[in-house]
Amino acid sequence: MDYLEIIGGGKLSGNVKISGAKNSALPVIAATILSDKPLTLTNLPNVVDIRTLLKLLTMLGGKVEHNDTVAVVDNGTINSTKAVYEIVSQMRASILVLGPLLARFKVCEVSLPGGCAIGQRPIDMHLKALESMGAIIEIKGGYVRAEAPNGLHGAKIVFDKITVGGTENVLMAAALANGTTTIVNAAREPEIVQLCDMLSSAGVVITGTGTGEITIEGTNGVPLTFPETKIIPDRIEAGTYLCAGAISHSTITLDEVDANHLKAVIDKLEVMGCSFDIEPNSITIHGPEKLKPVHIITTEYPGFPTDMQAQFMAIAAIADGESIIEERLFENRFMHVSELNRLGSDIWLKGSLAAVHGVEKLYGADVMATDLRASSALVLGALVAEGTTNVRRIYHLDRGYDNLEGKLSKLGANITRKKG
Ligand code: EPZ
Repeated sequence: MDYLEIIGGGKLSGNVKISGAKNSALPVIAATILSDKPLTLTNLPNVVDIRTLLKLLTMLGGKVEHNDTVAVVDNGTINSTKAVYEIVSQMRASILVLGPLLARFKVCEVSLPGGCAIGQRPIDMHLKALESMGAIIEIKGGYVRAEAPNGLHGAKIVFDKITVGGTENVLMAAALANGTTTIVNAAREPEIVQLCDMLSSAGVVITGTGTGEITIEGTNGVPLTFPETKIIPDRIEAGTYLCAGAISHSTITLDEVDANHLKAVIDKLEVMGCSFDIEPNSITIHGPEKLKPVHIITTEYPGFPTDMQAQFMAIAAIADGESIIEERLFENRFMHVSELNRLGSDIWLKGSLAAVHGVEKLYGADVMATDLRASSALVLGALVAEGTTNVRRIYHLDRGYDNLEGKLSKLGANITRKKG
């Protein structure tokens, strides 16, 4: 199994190109099911999750030509509407095919995604919303079976809690429904905005994009025709490289990035003593010699993202003082704590709160990645740890970071992928 060997200590310098956003590419790929015509997606990140969802399309009968960052998808040939366990169990985001399959084919079966390392992550709000749009849903044999013999109809959906995936599933279902759907308490992430823009580019009338209340006029079953769609920059990958600059006291520049998507992250890094030069498509971070502590509460966009919590814990580990980090979205997203402590950090956990007492130095050790963002936190710690760190189980990293070791090497890090 692959692992990363990282020899810590050096500074980073230079430029890194940010890839397309995994969490935007996934709903965009799912949305292609709403079309029966070929379309081209560009700026896809070259990561395992994207290949997994494209494979699911081919298993449904779609045609996919995929070459690193570009895919031509033709879902005119779909002849199955069953998303099988084999794929869904590899990636929870496969649940995003539920809304578009049901909207276009009026019936589908999608394996229940099951548990997840970072928390229980139910899909109850997705199902309740589709039911209020006319779906009849049954859960049997580990599958969600949904049908809407007369097609879906518009409805007023009020989410009890903000859900990114739930908002995406309803947006896609509503695009082909009969009538108007209003989503109240909708997610506002840039990835939601990209999905709304994609649907609008196919002629779907949407108002309230980027706000907590979105209205969608459905086409009453008429499939969509999309123009070429370019995936937005990955704000979480970008945030991770900003943390790499911060933790290594370095100046590095991120290219092809949108600073507007990173306001909460940049604000916290400023609190920690970092400074920035921000241009329309690039961000240069200047990491200070000594980082200051920080208080963080994870919340929905535009608040501080849960997907950056682990990386900030790594940099807080060597800050000058005590940081407090509260995780409000997922009940089990602190698995990196015990691994960071293996590198010498001093982190104390109680429920959803972590107190991080900054230490002078981290020391290299063998550590194990537990989920995608936890893995990147370990890599960040390893960049400044004295000696060698081996980060194992990096298949988590490969799901969502495009060529992490290549990009960090180019910035001057001593990082090598090894087998063993
Ligand atoms: C998306 O997951 C992201 N995944 C996650 O990124 C991210 O951490 C999360 O949003 C929050 O920002 C993708 O975009 C593919 P939610 P999603 O529905 O859509 C609860 C990463 O590292 N909930 O917004 O699954 C849920 O348990 C990943 O790239 C219900 O209770 O998240 C959580 O507590 C990991 N019932 C909260 O809502 C539901 O039906 C928010 O989850 C749905 C969600």
